[in-house]
Amino acid sequence: MTQHAALIGLGAHLPPRQVTNDDLSRTLDTSDEWIATRTGIRTRRWATPGQATGDLAVEAGHRALKSAGLAPEPGAVDVLVLATTTPDHPCPATAPRVAARLGLGPIAAYDMGAACSGFVYALATAAAQISAGQARRVLVIGAETMSSLLDTGDRTTAVIFGDGAGAAVLTAVPDAAAPGVLLATDLGSDGSGFDLAYVPGGGSREAAAGPVRDPAAHTLTMQGEKVFAHAVTRMADSVTSLLGRVGWAAGDVDRLVGHQANIRILTSLARRLQFPVERLVLNIDRVGNTSAASIPLALTDAVAAGELTAGDRVVLAAFGGGLSWGSIALTWPEIAAV
Ligand code: UT7
Repeated sequence: MTQHAALIGLGAHLPPRQVTNDDLSRTLDTSDEWIATRTGIRTRRWATPGQATGDLAVEAGHRALKSAGLAPEPGAVDVLVLATTTPDHPCPATAPRVAARLGLGPIAAYDMGAACSGFVYALATAAAQISAGQARRVLVIGAETMSSLLDTGDRTTAVIFGDGAGAAVLTAVPDAAAPGVLLATDLGSDGSGFDLAYVPGGGSREAAAGPVRDPAAHTLTMQGEKVFAHAVTRMADSVTSLLGRVGWAAGDVDRLVGHQANIRILTSLARRLQFPVERLVLNIDRVGNTSAASIPLALTDAVAAGELTAGDRVVLAAFGGGLSWGSIALTWPEIAAV
């Protein structure tokens, strides 16, 4: 019998170190006023020395399992997918060690590299594994220490990104109309824009170029304005095709949970979709752009604030480096975020 993937658990974790716009203005030619007006960000968290992506992922994973009513033990889930742009090491993937630290047993565990779209890509892939009968329950984590990729002297990137982790548990259910079932997914990419937001060094392309390693090449560089324009059009097109597949009009959607990259991107997206701005889920002011952790962090905050309730028609939409993008539709289940 065909199985469907339903959301049953949600958790998040932020590192304790708070970095406000005023903190950044002390060392950079910027201001709280510029950052807040141009991006919507007021503060963000950065990992403390000694804290890596895997550490944040373990915490968020624990919480999502608890939210799903599962103990962290062998048999809890049969797959772990970790969406991240900032793995603990270039090799191996971070997911197996996260699974081991969570005590989940010798399960399939792999990283998903789709930058800021990573969590949506990972959810869609996990749901497909469930539908294909390859998995019964999957832990999907989006975790990032974007601060590890930043040139803290570059005001065009340093003010934007934050660190954090969010996680979700998907389970197989027989009923396609059950609450929490992922009703449709839409994924896409355009690699001709690979260098609009990228880290030039650290990979085989740099090694192929010669033996000299330039430390400056190991930080994130971004053509902000071009990325902004792509983010709006790609997410709008993705959501439009998603809604067509589910049979919802934009006005039927109760909550649009977009990647928290810039508040102006999200309001432009809403305008383009003719979607009421008040129904956007927003937490960018508190966390900044946390890349693959962005959507699960926004979901967890929205549940805690009572902004997402059972039965709501919800659309997730993400855009990031790659270029990559994706969207997912679901009816919100009864869920306690931890
Ligand atoms: O996560 C997925 C990938 N990332 C994104 O989706 C991010 C998309 N892009 C953006 O959010 C925006 O493009 C930024 C927030 C990065 C930049 O905002 P913008 O309104 O597009 O600014 P801009 O790059 O067009 O720059 C406008 C001005 C420039 O000065 P001049 O040339 O007009 O004198 C910049 O040098 O603002 C200046 N500027 C700053 N000023 C103060 C750029 N960064 C800063 C800063 N503080 N931090």
